[in-house]
Amino acid sequence: MFVEVVQFDRPDEEPELSLQAARLILEIGNYKHTRDPEMILEGMIGRTTVAALDGYSQVIGTAGLRAVNPGLGMLEDVVSDPVKRGLGIGRKVVEAAESIALGQGITELNLTSSLLAVPFYRRLGYGQLGERLFRKFL
Ligand SMILES: CC(C)(COP(=O)(O)OP(=O)(O)OC[C@H]1O[C@@H](n2cnc3c(N)ncnc32)[C@H](O)[C@@H]1OP(=O)(O)O)[C@@H](O)C(=O)NCCC(=O)NCCS
Repeated sequence: MFVEVVQFDRPDEEPELSLQAARLILEIGNYKHTRDPEMILEGMIGRTTVAALDGYSQVIGTAGLRAVNPGLGMLEDVVSDPVKRGLGIGRKVVEAAESIALGQGITELNLTSSLLAVPFYRRLGYGQLGERLFRKFL
């Protein structure tokens, strides 16, 4: 399957891709309190967005990387298209975010996982600190 991975630092750099990513996050992610893509777009300010695109430039996966302290980053809003699960898209966006993190001098990534995604993060080498809290040293 053709997958292109792109990254951008602000939603206004890539408005169309940002909106698609926001819609995917809303559709799948843990946002019970809002249905408004604008809220998600606001959350994308101040972090690097990784987006996996199919051959039609449609966003089929995304991950956010936020630098929080020197050397420490948070992985946020990791999702892949529900009809394309198990095809390596989640791994691609997380590994891209990890390599961007390293390039920014980040050596530790933390994240809060949904319960269903716990085996996914274990598989990607994240250590479990709490029921849903994970950490990886890069
Ligand atoms: C979690 C999620 C991002 C995984 O995406 P995906 O595209 O299906 O993942 P991949 O195909 O890249 O899987 C990567 C590896 O994890 C493994 N994996 C993924 N889900 C798994 C599961 N539920 N149980 C066991 N292994 C799993 C895959 O087998 C694969 O292993 P391999 O690369 O060694 O063959 C996706 O299921 C999702 O969007 N879930 C809903 C949203 C969510 O919970 N996000 C996380 C919240 S922070």
